Amino acid sequence: MAVVYCAKDLRLGRTVALKLLAPEYTRNDAFRRRFAQESRVAAAIDHPNIVPVFEAGEADGILYIAMCFVAGFDLRALLDREGPLPVPAALRIASQLASALDAAHARDLVHRDVKPGNVLVGKGVDSDHPEHVYLTDFGLAKKSLSLTGFTSAGEFVGTLDYVAPERIAGRPVDGRSDQYSLACVVHETLAGAPPFRRADHLELLWAHQYDPPPALSKDRPDIPGEVDEVLRRALAKIPDDRYDTCLEFVAALRGAVGEAGPRGRTPTLVDPRVRAACAEPDGDRVEVPDPPPWADPVLRTDR
Ligand SMILES: Nc1ncnc2c1ncn2[C@@H]1O[C@H](COP(=O)(O)OP(=O)(O)O)[C@@H](O)[C@H]1O
Ligand SMILES: [Mg+2]
Repeated sequence: MAVVYCAKDLRLGRTVALKLLAPEYTRNDAFRRRFAQESRVAAAIDHPNIVPVFEAGEADGILYIAMCFVAGFDLRALLDREGPLPVPAALRIASQLASALDAAHARDLVHRDVKPGNVLVGKGVDSDHPEHVYLTDFGLAKKSLSLTGFTSAGEFVGTLDYVAPERIAGRPVDGRSDQYSLACVVHETLAGAPPFRRADHLELLWAHQYDPPPALSKDRPDIPGEVDEVLRRALAKIPDDRYDTCLEFVAALRGAVGEAGPRGRTPTLVDPRVRAACAEPDGDRVEVPDPPPWADPVLRTDR
């Protein structure tokens, strides 16, 4: 519903991400409200894994949000490029997402659109933290326990790959619905595809509602079977059967991967120079520091 530009803040001379509501939606009240609420929600949750919002408003009839520009990839692009990720990298991404989500849930907000395209993966601060992950796009966020199916206009856009069964059924959603989506994302980062893939939308909705998730360890023999159990719980059809929090889910995951994972070092997945191809209005390039030696070349060690 939006277009995101890499732009220059002329007052402070910094690079920002400028998100504009697409012109075809500017006359639609539901989309305008959703867009306006997105900036308020993101700004209200002050968390290191949620993109800082600098400013939002309307100029010349165009709704905009100016936010911190994350030099890196969104997780969709990263997975398309890399395929399944090394276990330690997948865990690092999952735990940062879980932390952001739990912070939103503590404020009684449900993100409701957790998917790889809404996860930004930037360069981390050092070799112990090779990536910094941001959860973005709070356009669909709602107070928990609100009753929402896909009934209202413009309610559902995009993919059904990550959607929790209770949302499909129009039952109340809470933080555990985001946990389900997070588990779908984790499954995809490790297996290369989300847990349920079906020929058409109806079959996919049916699968989320009724089919048991496939065992991840079948696709990834380097991952112990205990991980299947953890994912099965986070992907439970009934929210009460899931973990209480996203961080609890990721802690269980970390415990289950054993040797495959938690302390293993992998180089950063992000080469910030890729985004340096993004030209600024005056023709200059965005200034992105060269990656440290351990990040270059981007290596895959344990696939
Ligand atoms: N702060 C940011 N820094 C860099 N890229 C961003 C940023 N925010 C969004 N993007 C890019 O724009 C894409 C769409 O942004 P998103 O907020 O998810 O909009 P939409 O509502 O269209 O899904 C993201 O997948 C990401 O590639
Ligand atoms: Mg998005």
